Amino acid sequence: VDPNLQEWLHVLLRWIHVIAAIMWIGDSLLFVWIDSHLQKDPEERPDVAGVTWLIHGGGYYTLEKRLLEPGKLPPRLRWFWLEATTTWVSGFLLLVVVYYFSAGTFMVESGGSLSASAAVHLSLGLLVLGWLVYDGLWRTPLRHRPVLAVPLSFALFLALVYELTHLFSGRAAYLQAGAMLATLMAGNVWVHILPPQRKMLRLAREGRPVDLTLGQHAKTRSTHNTYLTFPVIFLMISNHFPQIYGAPLNWLLLGLLFVLGAGVRHVMVVGLRLAWWAAAAAAVSAVFLVVLTLPPAPAPAQAASGSPPVKFAEVRQIIWQRCTGCHSSVPTQPGIAAPPKGLELDTPGQIQAAAARIKLQAVTSKVMPLGNLTGMTDQERELLGRWVDSGAPLK
Ligand code: HEC
Repeated sequence: VDPNLQEWLHVLLRWIHVIAAIMWIGDSLLFVWIDSHLQKDPEERPDVAGVTWLIHGGGYYTLEKRLLEPGKLPPRLRWFWLEATTTWVSGFLLLVVVYYFSAGTFMVESGGSLSASAAVHLSLGLLVLGWLVYDGLWRTPLRHRPVLAVPLSFALFLALVYELTHLFSGRAAYLQAGAMLATLMAGNVWVHILPPQRKMLRLAREGRPVDLTLGQHAKTRSTHNTYLTFPVIFLMISNHFPQIYGAPLNWLLLGLLFVLGAGVRHVMVVGLRLAWWAAAAAAVSAVFLVVLTLPPAPAPAQAASGSPPVKFAEVRQIIWQRCTGCHSSVPTQPGIAAPPKGLELDTPGQIQAAAARIKLQAVTSKVMPLGNLTGMTDQERELLGRWVDSGAPLK
């Protein structure tokens, strides 16, 4: 695919994806909020389950949760389904355009066990398999015993993430985990939320009593979705944080981030007084996240031994050999049309100005060179690190 066209497809799809996701998650959170803030109807009407008053944009609104009498339907019911579907479809196409089209650079490490095309097939297969395993598990009688089913689901997820981080590049592993969770969310909407609602409506229209378990079942899956939301959003923006997805314990960090996101959601909905344990779990996860990503302190012996200062000529040689194929005003790497993120490392001044970023991406985490396409060695990384630590001199 022409890189310029790929870039524009990327822009368009990402734009749509973000807007659709804001709408989906926005109204999903709004409904969770409404449900937990309904008050008793002051007029005690039998068909009103609760009411709440809102002010927004200079207008007053009452929201009433209604129970429908058999045979009586409102003239027009608004369904929320387009948001979830648009989010998933645009997200899937984005995965294809950004990751599958560049699988050799973005999805696998060169010299790793997977080829680019195996990575694409595995990614597709896992999207389907993830849904089948999750949905299957939550159809068994275990679904009535969340104390067992929730930890089991989480353990399976963690095992999956561990495997993903060992098969794919860290960045692709995080995105794959996010795409799989997001697929569970969309699957829940398509399979467990919309069809029962349709059935409830049909029964109501025919004047037959509505089977209330239908709504309850939809509610369970929609509750799952609200717990998945925050972890998924983090995973979708995780590509900005190489110090997390590129860390040696990246699978564990992902697990902790999941606990943090789901814990915060629980506190938001249930309130701190009842959900103190979730707040505590989230706080402990946050502390572990910070501790586990602390950069290793430089070994004092090494610092004191006065290893000879790194010469800039060596640094420039490494950068030119390993980085400027892509990070140059005229990249030579096929498929790279312009310097990624506008980062050019052609001149000594440019290299010096980018010293801190170079250390972050190529030394602290090893996410650059992308997929280690240019075969950078650990000695070279260590040398770059020492050069940056010594103040990045041009001598
Ligand atoms: C095969 C191409 C390729 C090579 C080789 C490569 N990079 Fe990159 N680099 C990229 C791409 C693509 C991105 C943008 C990643 C993204 O979309 O987040 C990037 C991003 C970066 C960033 C992040 C810029 C920012 O936003 O702060 C830094 C820093 C970086 N590279 C440094 C390096 C260094 C140092 C080397 C050599 C050791 C290197 N890169 C080699 C392709 C490459």
